[in-house]
Amino acid sequence: MRKKVLLLGSGELGKEVVIAMQRLAQYVIAVDNYKDAPAMQVANEFEVINMLDGDELDRIVEKHKPDFIVPEVESIRTERFYDYEKQGYVVIPSAKAANFTMNRKSIRDLAASELKINTAKYKYASSLKELKVGVLYTGIPCVVKPLMSSSGKGQTIIKSEADIEKAWAYAMEGSRGDLMEVIVEEFINFDYEITLLTLTQNRGNTIFCPPIGHIQERGDYQQSWQPIIMDELHLKTAQIMADKITKSLGGSGIWGVEFFIAKDEVYFSELSPRPHDTGMVTLAGTQSFNQFELHARAILDIPVLDIPLLRNGASAVVLAHKESNNFPIFTGLEEAAKFKNTDFKIFGKPATRCYRRMGVALSYGAEETSELVERAKNVANKIKVN
Ligand SMILES: Nc1ncnc2c1ncn2[C@@H]1O[C@H](COP(=O)(O)OP(=O)(O)OP(=O)(O)O)[C@@H](O)[C@H]1O
Ligand SMILES: [Mg+2]
Repeated sequence: MRKKVLLLGSGELGKEVVIAMQRLAQYVIAVDNYKDAPAMQVANEFEVINMLDGDELDRIVEKHKPDFIVPEVESIRTERFYDYEKQGYVVIPSAKAANFTMNRKSIRDLAASELKINTAKYKYASSLKELKVGVLYTGIPCVVKPLMSSSGKGQTIIKSEADIEKAWAYAMEGSRGDLMEVIVEEFINFDYEITLLTLTQNRGNTIFCPPIGHIQERGDYQQSWQPIIMDELHLKTAQIMADKITKSLGGSGIWGVEFFIAKDEVYFSELSPRPHDTGMVTLAGTQSFNQFELHARAILDIPVLDIPLLRNGASAVVLAHKESNNFPIFTGLEEAAKFKNTDFKIFGKPATRCYRRMGVALSYGAEETSELVERAKNVANKIKVN
């Protein structure tokens, strides 16, 4: 039953997918645009290509003839996935899911216009002039994001009219590819935000992990915890939305579905059709299968019956603070290991950039999640990236 998995994207999430796949005896080829990427270090084979180059993608798909094409990042020439599906390849979870989530526009229009799922008010703009019109529609404060970007790149909160021009310029700088378009969204003054890890199964039910709370800074996740205690009705509403949108996109796999929760309203924000960074908290043993193992099982059509919470958990990121092309040295691990019921994972990225995520600290137990978050932060703070 050994199958060939072509993993597109070889970061820390991909690395865990490789490990999960190999524990189910699969063969993985890890791909990314740089050598020695985390997932490559544990994969059977690797390829270094520009994944935004469709011809390069075609070449390695043709070369390896994988049973599964598993995207781990957004920046891939995902239009090609439709061809691969036509040729009989299986794209995880589906070509449509990967393609629609590459660009904020497709996924937002699908959710809001087609499926009538509640989102923040939004408009698109392809010029400063259009952005000004968009801001009039959403009102101030509002959030501007490039249509193609991730981890908060190019994202600004507009707090007064004077910010509009800067927001446009910054979005153009932070945009991936050559797409000169942004989305401007009403700023949601949410009480908290969640990731609802959703498992779709071709041969089984869609099931949900206990909801994950998280804190974002600079548009990037800093800490996450599981479960987040929330109103049952809000959770049910989020689950119904997640079910609808994942069904419409199709296929088997784990999805990170992001929501903003305000007093009386649940807003769908965005989703990733693959493991989610905030879902690293599941590495703390909060569930019988972590999100990567769930993904692997769904891909291989191994049924998962349910995903109960086993214990509370939290995660906190370990960031680099300087740019360097040398393999980083980590210090403070001994100090970091002195907190009870904690763990840390170092991703093994070969180079650093300012704010690049290099590792994650984990904590677990029966304590309240606020306490676990503090403990995970304490562990993370002891680890220094040099
Ligand atoms: N309309 C909004 N109102 C309030 N906060 C927002 C809004 N949009 C985004 N944010 C904040 O910015 C964070 C990042 O936004 P979003 O998830 O859309 O960007 P991203 O670049 O795709 O991030 P990532 O790839 O890390 O998930 C959100 O998790 C939320 O904290
Ligand atoms: Mg997000």
